[in-house]
Amino acid sequence: MNSDIQRVLVSEKEIVDANQRLGKQLSEDYAGKNPLFVCILRGAAMFMMDLIKNIDIPLEYDFMDVSSYGGENTVSTGDVKIIKDLDTSLRDRDVVIVEDIIDTGYTLDRLIELFNTRHAKSIRIVSFLDKPSRRIKHVHVDYNGVKIPDEFVVGYGMDYNERYRNLPYVGVLKPEIYSSK
Ligand code: IMP
Ligand code: MG
Repeated sequence: MNSDIQRVLVSEKEIVDANQRLGKQLSEDYAGKNPLFVCILRGAAMFMMDLIKNIDIPLEYDFMDVSSYGGENTVSTGDVKIIKDLDTSLRDRDVVIVEDIIDTGYTLDRLIELFNTRHAKSIRIVSFLDKPSRRIKHVHVDYNGVKIPDEFVVGYGMDYNERYRNLPYVGVLKPEIYSSK
């Protein structure tokens, strides 16, 4: 285990299981629809690539980069900025937004509003992790991998100051990693 990690919250095995379960469900629900999966960079990239390998129907995907957290800050400001927009039109598409984690809900709330103005036919959310205790904006998560307590996590695509994204599991950082910054 990485020496900066205090404990593992979601193991590699649990990640595999969650992706199989979600992939099967999405394959059933979107059969015959050619859904567009929208990956929210950069945190959700690893999750989406694993997830879609478990989906056995035709689909397309695209990427969007938004930011709600600034730099060292680990508290959401409620401000969502588009850093890289989609290249694909959403008009009349069945859109599945792929997120790494839903925390306050601000990011997804704003994205759903935006995607509605682009005339998507339907919009659903698949989020690998969910921290329900932190929700400020009510957002319905249609497909969730794992619910976690209110802790800042890294790994499996998620970062602290751009580090730890490549860990194959989700873990909690040792407190001294934050305080030594
Ligand atoms: P929300 O807008 O507060 O729901 O925040 C969602 C975004 O904040 C996620 O897509 C992540 O990029 C980031 N985030 C929230 N909690 C964590 C965490 O525990 N670790 C890493 N990133 C997080
Ligand atoms: Mg994110």
